[in-house]
Amino acid sequence: MLVTKQNRLEARIREWVEQFGRDRSALLPILQEIQKKYTYISKHAMQVVAHELDIHPVEVYGVVTFYSFLSDKPQGKFVIRLCSTISCDMAGRDRVARQLQNDLGIKFGETTPDKKFSLEWSSCLGMCDQGPALLINDEIFTQVTPQKCHELLNECKKAFASHAVRQEADQ
Ligand code: FES
Repeated sequence: MLVTKQNRLEARIREWVEQFGRDRSALLPILQEIQKKYTYISKHAMQVVAHELDIHPVEVYGVVTFYSFLSDKPQGKFVIRLCSTISCDMAGRDRVARQLQNDLGIKFGETTPDKKFSLEWSSCLGMCDQGPALLINDEIFTQVTPQKCHELLNECKKAFASHAVRQEADQ
């Protein structure tokens, strides 16, 4: 039998359902696994999850669009979330934002054409006394200056070059 990308996606979702259960409380961890694996949660994935957990697809869509760390459109391998809340704003958030946009050639809410980086705003990351703060995937960085942010992007690019981040061919 021909194994399509959709078949693989469905099989993986069933594995995560086995792992986390069919209870409503399993919804978020399952969606997080899909996000991690595929960089976003497609409409088809939402339907499969809804079917497996026996809930309405609208409920799944509501959760995906509620949480800023979940996305319904493809994102880069590195998702950079810069805190936009007041303490970070006062600590120089705008200069960091400009540096990120200049270095990546995209605006917030966008993904680079090579699918390596996405830029997003974030609400408070809980590091208000050490702003500006940003997240790169799950890792938090504080007191970020334009220079530091330039260096962080270079580190990410090196990770690609050394294959530390695998581009998964079977997604
Ligand atoms: Fe930016 Fe709290 S205001 S981390």
